[in-house]
Amino acid sequence: MPKIVVSGRGGCGKSTLVTLMAKELKEQGKTVLVVDSDESNLGLGTMLGFKPAEKTLMDYLGGKPAVMDKLMAQIKEEKNEHAEFFMENSDLNSLSPEFVKWNGDLALMQVGKIEHTMEGCACPMGAIARDFLNHLAVEEDQWVLIDTEAGVEHFGRGIVEGADSVLMVVDPSNDAVLLTEKAAKLTEEAGKNFAVVLNKVDGKTTSILEEMLTLKNITIKGILPYSSTLAHINLQGESLDMPSAIGELDKLITGIT
Ligand SMILES: Nc1ncnc2c1ncn2[C@@H]1O[C@H](COP(=O)(O)OP(=O)(O)O)[C@@H](O)[C@H]1O
Ligand SMILES: [Mg+2]
Repeated sequence: MPKIVVSGRGGCGKSTLVTLMAKELKEQGKTVLVVDSDESNLGLGTMLGFKPAEKTLMDYLGGKPAVMDKLMAQIKEEKNEHAEFFMENSDLNSLSPEFVKWNGDLALMQVGKIEHTMEGCACPMGAIARDFLNHLAVEEDQWVLIDTEAGVEHFGRGIVEGADSVLMVVDPSNDAVLLTEKAAKLTEEAGKNFAVVLNKVDGKTTSILEEMLTLKNITIKGILPYSSTLAHINLQGESLDMPSAIGELDKLITGIT
């Protein structure tokens, strides 16, 4: 199955959707790798219900200074191609447990986190994420869900280039609609598939969003209503399980395959 980048503005529900989809896919007997590429996100492991591995992908590759050196050497040599951190293709089962933590058929890895003030931008995280995804081979019953930072920076950093499709989470706000239009264009430019899921909506906001997005020729593949249960589970720092969302998740999963 495809490697899917889950995109959207801050707080729209990217990590929530990644978690719910990952758990539902696991229930359906699929193998799922969740890639946390949001360097500020701290709660994904809590939502999934298990801790990530001790090392991030960045740690595994020797740390940010080593990765930066490699990227700088590339720039100095004026090479236009991307720096390669992985020489060979790998599959889900051969990934090092040093940076990938398994819980049954569900795995979690983190690309890297901002740990210090003034440590510089997150571009090196983007470079290794892209190369990792480009070298990752997935089979029919395997899914890779990539949780991202807010906005569209992952397009600029090239993470989308390493994936097959973009799943845009749209909450009921005008900003989300504007961002969706932009993301749809960037996804088309990258030559990838684009799908939209509405989140935190009710009947009224669903029909307004449907109208607005239809005008922009954007099709909605799934709808996740606002749920106070879900908000409470998250607030209390508990693992996210939402049996009532399963019908909607099923439809969404079918819609994007
Ligand atoms: N369908 C929903 N109903 C109610 N609350 C939701 C829903 N989806 C997400 N939330 C809440 O919105 C907040 C932001 O969600 P999160 O998944 O962390 O967003 P993001 O990863 O896009 O920043 C969290 O408090 C989460 O519990
Ligand atoms: Mg998040």
